[in-house]
Amino acid sequence: MATKPQPLAAVHNHETYLSQGIPSASSLDPNPLAQFSRWFTHAQDNPTDVPEPEAMSVSTVDPATHIPSTRVVLLKQVDDRGFVFYTNYSSRKGRELFPNNNDDEDPAAPLAQGGYASLAFYWRALHLSVRVVGRAEKVDPATTRAYFNSRPVGSRIGAWASAQSEVLPSGTRQELEDRVRDIERRFGVPEGTATGSAVVDAGPGAGPGGVEGSEARDVEIPVPPFWGGVRIVPFEVEFWAGRESRLHDRYRYTRAEGDEAGQWTVERLCP
Ligand SMILES: Cc1cc2nc3c(=O)[nH]c(=O)nc-3n(C[C@H](O)[C@H](O)[C@H](O)COP(=O)(O)O)c2cc1C
Repeated sequence: MATKPQPLAAVHNHETYLSQGIPSASSLDPNPLAQFSRWFTHAQDNPTDVPEPEAMSVSTVDPATHIPSTRVVLLKQVDDRGFVFYTNYSSRKGRELFPNNNDDEDPAAPLAQGGYASLAFYWRALHLSVRVVGRAEKVDPATTRAYFNSRPVGSRIGAWASAQSEVLPSGTRQELEDRVRDIERRFGVPEGTATGSAVVDAGPGAGPGGVEGSEARDVEIPVPPFWGGVRIVPFEVEFWAGRESRLHDRYRYTRAEGDEAGQWTVERLCP
């Protein structure tokens, strides 16, 4: 007989959610991406209350086992097609989204269309949340390159050095840092730039600790072939606004999958 589970952590408070609510569908933009950018800009305008509004959970599904997995990533852009984040295409999420991914993919080839994904944002101080369901596609290589080049050099080195989601055979941080050193040497970046231990000639008073000297900043580092942007093109977007007694406002936009020119249907859902 199964034993009764013993609680190891529990929550006893009852939070009250009191946003301004969503009075009616007519107060929403007919396009959920425009509506999202309204709420997102509002969250960005309140950095003390909402320190990282771009943090979102991304759920993917293993196409063979149908087992889902969720992790947090950073939204980098919302465009008129969808929600963009950057990752390693060979990671668990990358493989689940693009199972036929090919690292040697021709950058001029049509953009790879991927599997389904779901996103969730929660802006606690505003008592607002947004959920998205859509289909993944790879961002075009030029956009990925522009974003990659805007990242600090340490993050660019890190993208090369981390075989994201793979086991480190030795189980040590040293192995990861050794890989970082190899990549730094390969691209002529001062050793320790990515791990913050480089001593670079960045002027008087500068010392170790992650200083990005001009020598490191100016270096050309190509985009790893296994890394880039993912756009989630939605066919369902839900806006949730917390109200008293759990009687929250929920509005769901839906359109036919793959019909990007299609009309959105907006419906109020029970909380
Ligand atoms: C706040 C935060 C932001 C993150 N941003 C990203 C990101 O933008 N891209 C990314 O690949 N991983 C990001 N990560 C790491 C992921 O949560 C995850 O550990 C990693 O992508 C590997 O996931 P996977 O093995 O399921 O593919 C972030 C983690 C946190 C906590």
